Amino acid sequence: MSTKATLALCLLFIATLITTSKPDSPKEKLTHLHFYFHEVESGPNATLVTSITLHRNTTFGDINVFDNTLRVGPQPDSALIGGAQGMGVHAALDGSQGLAAINFFFTAGEYNGSSLATLGVIKASGPSERSIVGGTGKFRFARGYMLSKLVNSTATSLVVEFDMYFTHF
Ligand SMILES: *[C@@H]1O[C@H](CO)[C@@H](O)[C@H](O)[C@H]1NC(C)=O
Ligand SMILES: *[C@@H]1O[C@H](CO)[C@@H](O)[C@H](O)[C@H]1NC(C)=O
Ligand SMILES: *[C@@H]1O[C@H](CO)[C@@H](O)[C@H](O)[C@H]1NC(C)=O
Ligand SMILES: *[C@@H]1O[C@H](CO)[C@@H](O)[C@H](O)[C@H]1NC(C)=O
Repeated sequence: MSTKATLALCLLFIATLITTSKPDSPKEKLTHLHFYFHEVESGPNATLVTSITLHRNTTFGDINVFDNTLRVGPQPDSALIGGAQGMGVHAALDGSQGLAAINFFFTAGEYNGSSLATLGVIKASGPSERSIVGGTGKFRFARGYMLSKLVNSTATSLVVEFDMYFTHF
């Protein structure tokens, strides 16, 4: 094929690309959220319960349900920005990890009323990477991933740091 013909084909291809992308189609955005997840493990204000336990010599098959707070910082009195309601299933025979399905919802600032649905494996030791599979409100069509790591653990509480990266419209 001559250079001229190749050039003409390339221009036609570019023109097709331009005409098929609608000028009014919404633009996809990449958002990064950073916050701390606070869980109260026991006591009168516990935010986590073990809803199913098989009382065996492993935790395999047990289920926890939680309604935790999301805060700007790692201290329990830092500003509240939302919540995380969900469950963790002890889904590994050796107890090394579980499967967590969590809905994160936001109650402050520009994301008040928006939520993110997440699913994935949480490791007993070390940081975890999980999927962001959808969203509502400002986060409609969200998809991405989140990184989490334990930053404080006491006999009655734990704090997990989250970084979420996702695209949405
Ligand atoms: C539980 O929460 C109530 C109401 O916020 C508070 O007054 C009480 O001190 C808390 N108890 C504990 C053990 O944290
Ligand atoms: C746990 O229980 C199962 C069946 O009851 C048994 O086969 C296994 O050896 C036990 N494991 C331990 C570590 O006690
Ligand atoms: C979040 O939105 C709800 C419902 O619209 C409203 O009642 C509440 O005051 C808002 N909160 C903040 C912190 O803006
Ligand atoms: C860990 O959490 C406890 C209980 O909320 C708190 O008193 C302590 O200051 C925290 N430690 C760090 C390093 O944030």
